[in-house]
Amino acid sequence: MKKAKIAGVGFHVPENVITNDDLTKYMDTNDQWIQERTGIKERRWVTRGEDTTATLAAKASRIAIERAGIEPKDLDFIVFATLSADYYFPGAGVILQRELGIAETEIGAVDVKTQCTGFIYALSMATQYIETGMYKNILVVGAEVQSMALDLTTRGRGIAVIFGDGAGAVVLQPTEEKGKGILNTKLHADGRYAEKLIMPVPGSHAGYHNDKLETPSDWNFSDARWGNTFINEHMLTNSMIYPYMDGKYVFKMAVTKFPEVTKESLDAEGLEVKDIDLFIPHQANLRISQFVAKRLGLPAEKVWNNIQRYGNTTAASIPIALAEAWEAGKVNDGDLVCLTAFGSGFTWGTALIRW
Ligand code: UT7
Repeated sequence: MKKAKIAGVGFHVPENVITNDDLTKYMDTNDQWIQERTGIKERRWVTRGEDTTATLAAKASRIAIERAGIEPKDLDFIVFATLSADYYFPGAGVILQRELGIAETEIGAVDVKTQCTGFIYALSMATQYIETGMYKNILVVGAEVQSMALDLTTRGRGIAVIFGDGAGAVVLQPTEEKGKGILNTKLHADGRYAEKLIMPVPGSHAGYHNDKLETPSDWNFSDARWGNTFINEHMLTNSMIYPYMDGKYVFKMAVTKFPEVTKESLDAEGLEVKDIDLFIPHQANLRISQFVAKRLGLPAEKVWNNIQRYGNTTAASIPIALAEAWEAGKVNDGDLVCLTAFGSGFTWGTALIRW
C-alpha cells in the first residue's frame, strides 16, 4: 500500500495584532499574568467583515496547493478541521471549495469537529483515502475564527486571552519513496470529559446534560419556557453562548496524554524519542509544551513553539506551526516530524511523519 506524504504546506494569519496590553481595554488582566501562565505575547484576530474561517483557510490553502505543484482544480477532496465554521451548517469545507473557485469540480468536502485535535484527525482521515488509492490530491486544513466567540469582559478573561485566529493547510499526495510519508496516526477520545472544555450553545441538549455541566452556576439550560431552540435571548443575556474551560483539569490531562500518545506512535514504528527531529505540539499553552518536552526528554531546539505570537488557534495551530517551521528550514528531507495534540472532547492524537 502506498503511503501519504505532505506535498505542500501553507499558513495565513490575520494582519490585526492584538497585544496583551490591548486586552486590558476590555477586561481586568495584564501582560505579566498572560505571559507567565501561557507564554502568549500577542494573537491575531480577524477584522469583522474582512475574513471568515473559510477565507483564512483559502489563503493558507492557495500557498499549500502552489507548493505542492498543483492547481486548485486538481484537488480530489477537502478535509476541513474547525470548531468555528462560517455557519452552524453547512460546514466550512464547502465554503472553502467555493472560495477556491472549484465548486464546479463537485469534489467532496467534509468538516472535522474535534477541536484542538482536529488537524490530526483530519490528516488521519485523509491519509486513509490516499493509502487506499481513492484520492491523489487531498487538501487538509485547520482554520479558526475564535475571536467572535469570546466573552471580552473580566468574567471571560480565563479564556479570552488565550485564543487566536488563523489557518494552516497541507496537500496530501501518495508517495512511492520507501520509508517516507505519514508513518502512522494515533487517535483517541474520552467523552466522559466533554463538559471540561465546552461551548454549549447553540446545541440540542436543552438541559439534558445539566448534571454534567460544571459551567458557571447561573448557566441553566433546562427552563421549559424557553421552548425548543438552540439559542434564545436568555442564553444571550446570561453569557451562556461562550466557551467554558476547567483550565487546571485540562492542563493536567494534557501533560499526561501528549507524551503518552507520542510514545504510542513511536513504539508502533520501533522508534524512540531521540529519533524525533522536530516535535510540533498543539499550541495550547507554552507551559504545557515545555512540560511535555521535559517529560519526553526532548531538547528545546527540537520543539516548535509559536504560541507567543498567535495564541492558541485550536485546529489551526499545528498546520500553522508546521508551515512556519518548514519556511524556517526546520523540516528537511528524511526528518522525523511528530505532530501531537490534545483538546476538548477530550480528544488527543499524533501523526508521525518521515519527511
Ligand atoms: O487548547 C485546548 C486545551 N486548553 C488548554 O490546554 C488550556 C489548559 N489550561 C491552562 O492553560 C491554564 O489552566 C490557564 C492558562 C487557562 C489558566 O491558568 P491557571 O494557572 O490554571 O489559572 P486559574 O484559572 O486557576 O486562575 C488563577 C487566578 C484566578 O484568580 P484567583 O481566583 O486566584 O484570585 C483567576 O481569576 O488568575 C485569575 N485569572 C486572571 N488574571 C488575570 C484568570 N484569567 C486571568 C487573566 N488575567 N486573563
